[in-house]
Amino acid sequence: MRMIREPDELRRLCDEHRRAGRRIGFVPTMGYLHEGHLSLMRRAREAAEVVVVSIFVNPTQFGPSEDLSRYPRDLEGDLAKCASIPVDLVYAPEPASVYPPGFQTVVEVEGLSRGLCGERRPGHFRGVATVVTKLLCLVGPCTAVFGEKDFQQLLVIRQLARDLELPVTVVGAPIVREPDGLALSSRNAYLSPAERASAPCLHRALEEVARAAAAAGRLPASAALAAVERELAGQGVATRIDYVEARDARTLAPRAELLPDGQTLVALAVFFGKTRLIDNLVF
Ligand code: PAF
Repeated sequence: MRMIREPDELRRLCDEHRRAGRRIGFVPTMGYLHEGHLSLMRRAREAAEVVVVSIFVNPTQFGPSEDLSRYPRDLEGDLAKCASIPVDLVYAPEPASVYPPGFQTVVEVEGLSRGLCGERRPGHFRGVATVVTKLLCLVGPCTAVFGEKDFQQLLVIRQLARDLELPVTVVGAPIVREPDGLALSSRNAYLSPAERASAPCLHRALEEVARAAAAAGRLPASAALAAVERELAGQGVATRIDYVEARDARTLAPRAELLPDGQTLVALAVFFGKTRLIDNLVF
């Protein structure tokens, strides 16, 4: 496994692999890797002969009051985890290599970036779309793998690949959960023991609402918010709902009703103390 810091070197090595007829699978990450990331890497391994992982805490996708400076980092641990897959190339650039002085281009996916996390984190998806476009252009993968936990992000990236005619298949991989249902996230490291103990209630609420929709055939979308409120009420830790919304899983169009049609997305963001957790379920 080779670690690369500079974009030119990454481009050169990826060009060589492609010229030799080897398919490249790519997994962009912000590091502090967990089993969820490793599942994306394994998926990339299935699809390609060469696996490239980027580790870059992208400053442009953090708002001014967000957790950029305290975002967890552990490059050494990350490299060991990548080696266990195994990954072929790890790209871990400095911010100045990604955004050199004079940088002024952005990529914006207009429709899908509105609402949900896009509304609560202005500029977030512009930062994600810009850095992911740069990375896809550098690496030139056949397949790029993203987690369904960031469901809106996955749709934004699919759309930008389609709109910009990038020759890449964007693959979504299922959410990996702890045994108690909590979706894996680097941000889980911020949770206090009491918050960690209560956080699985998010997944319980999502499952509860999916079960109720299946039993009733249809439910008003407000049932999702009510289920999350019910679960949070008994928790005894400081929580705040950022949003709980029902959307069409293909278009993110708002849904007035929860239908068990395989295309109902219930997505949520909830603060446990200062830590904002997201989760979703499609049913
Ligand atoms: O999902 C993430 O970790 C990031 O948003 C991504 C896709 C690596 C872009 O910085």
